[in-house]
Amino acid sequence: MSEETSQAAAKRVLSGMRPTGKLHLGNYMGALKNWVALQNETNADGSPKYECYFFIADWHALTTDYADTGALRQNVREVALDFLAAGLDSKRSTIFLQSEVPAHAELAMLLGMITPLSWLERVPTYKDQQEQLKEKDLATYGFLGYPVMMSADILVYQTDFVPVGLDQAAHVEITREIARRFNHIYGVEEHEVLPEPKVLLTPSPKLPGTDGRKMSKSYGNTILLSDPEPEIRAKLKTMVTDPARVRRTDVGNPDVCPVFDLHKVFSTGETQQTVRAGCTTAGIGCIQCKGWLADAVVAELAPIQEKRRHFESHPEEVDAVLDAGAVRANARAEATMRQVRAAVGLARR
Ligand code: TRP
Ligand code: SF4
Repeated sequence: MSEETSQAAAKRVLSGMRPTGKLHLGNYMGALKNWVALQNETNADGSPKYECYFFIADWHALTTDYADTGALRQNVREVALDFLAAGLDSKRSTIFLQSEVPAHAELAMLLGMITPLSWLERVPTYKDQQEQLKEKDLATYGFLGYPVMMSADILVYQTDFVPVGLDQAAHVEITREIARRFNHIYGVEEHEVLPEPKVLLTPSPKLPGTDGRKMSKSYGNTILLSDPEPEIRAKLKTMVTDPARVRRTDVGNPDVCPVFDLHKVFSTGETQQTVRAGCTTAGIGCIQCKGWLADAVVAELAPIQEKRRHFESHPEEVDAVLDAGAVRANARAEATMRQVRAAVGLARR
């Protein structure tokens, strides 16, 4: 259907997340919250603006953790719970597990045939990650091919938009290059078979963890979406502050304080003003300031945690979501693969 017709098909949106276990505030603010917003966007007539696909990238976990899969099943479960708790809804989105849609692997294999090694070797995360994860042997075919698998994830749905953070933008760029090369080599029209997807850059607010560094599972400084209220309060109580504010009577500077960075994300403008005024005059203490932050974080997470408890006690509903998601994803991916096989010359008829 052409775009000019009033009933133009909804643009397809796809994104994925590795099953790292229980998700934290950084995963939520930097990705999941945005996915839920995209899922819920509507046109003037109330119809959904996007056809959304969100998946748990379990094969991607193997690119770095192939030797240590003991926690994989549980991690997948936790991420599925957090997806649903955060508001992803199987009535509006196709929510699935990557390894339950084999077409991702078939397309990745075919794309691997046409992808020059040099393109993969120059992906910034390739060398970076190998250096950062020195304890693992990442001189593998699978790790080098990670961007090919990610390209297949995206292209197998003929995706229009990929909402990701800046850290993943280079992978969407290589996806576009691989699509272009495929269409060129197999002589298919641009926008046919493997249309080039666009990155939809997720605005990611600065979200420090309790030690002041970027919130990240590997730093052990996270606040989990599923942390109970006392845990959230205890973690925030130990959070680093403006290092120059040693005594209660010292004035502080919110602009260099990681606690204030979180206030900017979670607290009202009014609270932020109160904090700024109190901090810069030593009118408030850091414990009080962190208490207000905890109030805001707890309020943001309350509805999420309520939903999580529901799904925790109804695991059969979580399985039903992933089962239905796999059926829908397989059907859509298979439609692309029929075109792909024909373009490559593999189709018998
Ligand atoms: N590589 C992404 C990450 O580490 C996860 C991912 C895998 C993904 N396949 C994808 C994201 C396809 C967007 C589209 O966060
Ligand atoms: Fe940071 Fe708040 Fe303490 Fe100021 S009062 S230094 S903003 S924690």
